[in-house]
This record gives sequence, C-alpha cells and structure tokens, in this order.
Amino acid sequence: MARLGVDFGTTNTVAVVHDRGVFSVVLHRADTGAGTIVREVYPSAILIESGSEHRWFGLEADRRFGQHGPEPGSFYLPSLKRHLHNYSEGRTISMDAFSGRFDVGDLLTSYLGSLAESIRTSGLVEPDEPLETVITWPANANGAQRHITRRCFREAGFQVLSTLNEPTASAIELADCLTAGRGGRQRREPSAVAVFDLGGGTFDASAVWIDGDEFQVLTSAGIENLGGDDFDRVLLEMFLDKLKMSPDALIPLTRHALLRQTRAQKETIAGGVVRTLFLNPMDFGIQGLPISMPVAAYYDRLRPMLKPAIATLVSVIERAAEREPRIHVDRGLRIYLVGGTSKLPLVSEMVAAAFPRCQVVLTDKPFTSVAMGAAICAMDRVRYRDVFARHFGLIRLRDFGRAEVFDVVFPAGTPIPRRGEPPLERTAWYHPHHNIGHLRYLECTALGPGGLPDGSVRAWSDVLFPYDPGIPLSARPAADQVVDTEQFTGQTVCEVYRCDSDGVITVELRRPATDEVRTHEIYQD
Ligand SMILES: Nc1ncnc2c1ncn2[C@@H]1O[C@H](COP(=O)(O)OP(=O)(O)OP(=O)(O)O)[C@@H](O)[C@H]1O
Ligand SMILES: [Mg+2]
Repeated sequence: MARLGVDFGTTNTVAVVHDRGVFSVVLHRADTGAGTIVREVYPSAILIESGSEHRWFGLEADRRFGQHGPEPGSFYLPSLKRHLHNYSEGRTISMDAFSGRFDVGDLLTSYLGSLAESIRTSGLVEPDEPLETVITWPANANGAQRHITRRCFREAGFQVLSTLNEPTASAIELADCLTAGRGGRQRREPSAVAVFDLGGGTFDASAVWIDGDEFQVLTSAGIENLGGDDFDRVLLEMFLDKLKMSPDALIPLTRHALLRQTRAQKETIAGGVVRTLFLNPMDFGIQGLPISMPVAAYYDRLRPMLKPAIATLVSVIERAAEREPRIHVDRGLRIYLVGGTSKLPLVSEMVAAAFPRCQVVLTDKPFTSVAMGAAICAMDRVRYRDVFARHFGLIRLRDFGRAEVFDVVFPAGTPIPRRGEPPLERTAWYHPHHNIGHLRYLECTALGPGGLPDGSVRAWSDVLFPYDPGIPLSARPAADQVVDTEQFTGQTVCEVYRCDSDGVITVELRRPATDEVRTHEIYQD
C-alpha cells in the first residue's frame, strides 16, 4: 500500500509516494495549448477569477497568472502558507477585487483538495486508496499554524498519520542518502547533522543526532518570516528606487507580476555567470527605460538579512553541543543546506565562512528533501523525536494580582513524545483568587527580563474555567465575568498538561469543590 510524505511549502508543495520500496516524487501536470507542463512542485498559489469566483490552484494558478498577467478583477494569492503564521490573530484575507473576506482555513482546504486530486491523477496511488500521509511544518511553526495545517489536510481528504518538523525530515533524507540510499543500507557511526533550511517563506535550523534509524532532534529554532519571498521583495524595492517609485503606488496584481520577475532574476544568479539583474518596466505597463542592478549591490542588501539566520544556526549548534558532547564544530560536523533559497551562492558562502571547519553539504534536490524525509517516516522504518522549538506556558498573577509571571509549562528544547509513546505530562497546583480561572496561554521564542515572554510571542486560545461550583462546567463564561474573590483560596486546583506526539497540547482541569474534570485542547478555533 502506498504512503505519502507531503511538504506544504510557502512557494512549492511537494509530495513523495512510497510504494513497495520505491520512492517517487509526484509529477503534477497542467495542459496548455502548447503542450503539457509536468513539474515536481505544485506551487502554493491560488488564482480566483473575477465574476465567477472560480478558483485555480497550484500549477494551473501559476500558469494562468504567468500567461495572462495581472487580469483586472482577479485575485492572485501566492505563498498561502505565509497567512498561517498569523492565524491566531486573523483568520481571513481581504481581496481587493471581491467584497467580503476569504477564510484562510477554507482557502487552504480547497488548495489541499486540489493537491490530493493532482496526486491521484499522477497514478502513483490507486483511485480508492486512502492518502496515508506524514505532513511537515516548520520547526518554528506556532501552535495555531500547526492546528490549522493539520485540520485542513484532514478536511481535504488526507489521512494524517503523523507530523514532522521540516528540518528533521531533511536530516532523515540526508541520512538515508548517506547510508547508501533507498537500496542496500549500511549502518554508520552515530553522527550529527545541522540542517539549514531556507525556503520561500521561512527559515529553520535544527541539529539532529543520528544513530542508525533513530533520529533525535537536539535543538531547533527558526525565523518565521525569512525566505526567498523577502529577497524578491528587496530586489523589487531596489528596482523601484531606481525608478523613483513607491511600492505603494503599485496595484497588487502588478506587484505580484513584478515579484515574479525579480524572483526569476534572483534565481539566475545560481548559474554562476550572472553579474547584473534586469527589469524592463514597460513589460509591466510602467513608464521608464530598462534598468539594471549589479548582483554585488543586491548581495549588500541580503547580507544583513541573512545574518540572523547564521546567528540562529550558530546558537542551535552550540546548544546541541551542550546536550551531546560528541558534536564538534571543528571536526567536520555536517551542515546540510536545503530549501530553494539555499541555491543562492551567497547563502553557502556565508554558512561556510561562519563554520570554516564544518562540512557544508549542498543538495541538487533542495525542493524535494523535506517531502522525501517525510515519506521515509511514513513507512515506519525510522524513529524520530522532535523537541519544542518555542517555550509554551501561561501568564499567572502573583502578589495578589499585582504582578504577572510567565509560567513555562514546556520549555523550548523539551523532547516531544514519539509516535506511539504516552503523552508528555506536567502538573501544576495552585490556590485560585477568582471565581473563574482565566488561563492565558502563550508561546515565545525567548525569555526576557523577569522570565517574561520575548522574541516572537504568539497567543494560543484562552481557557475560562469556573472554580465556583455555582457556575456549571458546561457554561461558556466570558472574561468579564471573572471577579476577584478569597472564597476559593483554601482549595487546591490541579492542572494537568499533556502533549502528544503531534505536539497537540491539552489541559485537564479539576474543580476542587465538586471534583469535576474538564479537558481542553489548548489551541482551538
Ligand atoms: N536558483 C535559485 N536561486 C535562488 N533562489 C532560488 C532558486 N531556485 C529557487 N529559489 C527560491 O527558493 C524558494 C522556494 O524554495 P522552496 O521550495 O524550498 O520553499 P518552500 O518549501 O516552498 O518554502 P518554506 O519552506 O519556506 O515554507 C523561492 O523563493 C525561490 O525563488
Ligand atoms: Mg520548505
């Protein structure tokens, strides 16, 4: 029976099917007047036509937008995944051509539905076969992003077997290649690999310890909004500067078309002979003569953007070496560069300069590495353990409500259970000072002064739990019903937190007066 690994990327989505020992990257097709386009990647884009509101997805969306250009009234939405980062703050997208807003979950489900159809059309899975899939997400993805991604995959018809962080998947793919690939496998000495994954929208770094078929993530961190999209935007700004135009002067469709051009120009640098990038504004209906931009000037703008990624990698490797003393940066630690943006020569130059004694490994398949790793996991051959990339906890009041503290439930670096293992558990007890507990959950990448959340901070859903036995547990209290009271301070409330192998966190709350229990999944719509 076939099983899949799917990497839903910011720019490209890739699916790999494993069937009876053979791994195949799914080829997606789009028929055009000039023949059939066949590609290993399924662009993470949607085109919505004006009037009919018909949606085109993936290759077809990309092709139609490329062919017809910015058609007034239509809406082009590339990089769909970028809208998931802020899912806990806003769940809809406004589109200028249409009144009203589009629901992010609905757009993602329909996009993934079209992906499922394209996978079935490839003939690599039988028509009635379930799409048993391991899905991936950025190591640094926030809770809301994980929640909506998994939900939409299920709604689109995928049977999600398990989930995996993208850099972990790449480490598994690399290890598989090094152990003589998917044919005869030989055992190697335990070793570490640091993965540097710079894609279209996110940067992730992880250090993974590999011992045979066991993969243990030691540390993970990332930057939510750093990827090739940002590099395209910078090049566009540089061109517009030369044209003395403000980016705000562009209508969204022209902007998308220009970004396609800057992306195509950026991608030519990897060829090694290009020293200058070009734009002819007239091609986009903008007055002006063709302009050029030296690659050296472009690199000057990119270097400061890449520095935080290099710093993140340094810190990931340092923290991994503290946990696993057999890791030595000065003795050939492998750094695996994946993600399409790693093809930019500046990226490998900067990584190699930061780690002169490490072995920087470049892949000729930077786009398919993650999906391949996920497909390897789907066949249950390997065992892996991920870690929390962010601190997860809740804000509590201290000193009779005068001070707030961040109570970290699961610190960054905490190992997440493997598939099949019991959930991770942590219990907290306290004496309530309110009639209703208002539990405000947060996650963050760093801890600031006084242990308060810092870095990238994201809210999870709040939980309101009545300690007052006069309020039924089935009631849905509102935050404005919470009042201070000493009535329950003599009682002890117990909170039990559990995290399963997908990183889903639940809290079980016990009301002391009646011993009633309620369990909440903490991230909920
Ligand atoms: N030759 C190249 N040189 C530089 N960048 C490239 C090249 N080829 C592709 N890219 C860039 O790689 C990015 C897409 O990479 P990839 O498919 O790995 O990202 P993704 O998996 O969709 O995104 P993410 O992992 O961030 O969610 C795009 O920004 C694209 O412009
Ligand atoms: Mg990717």
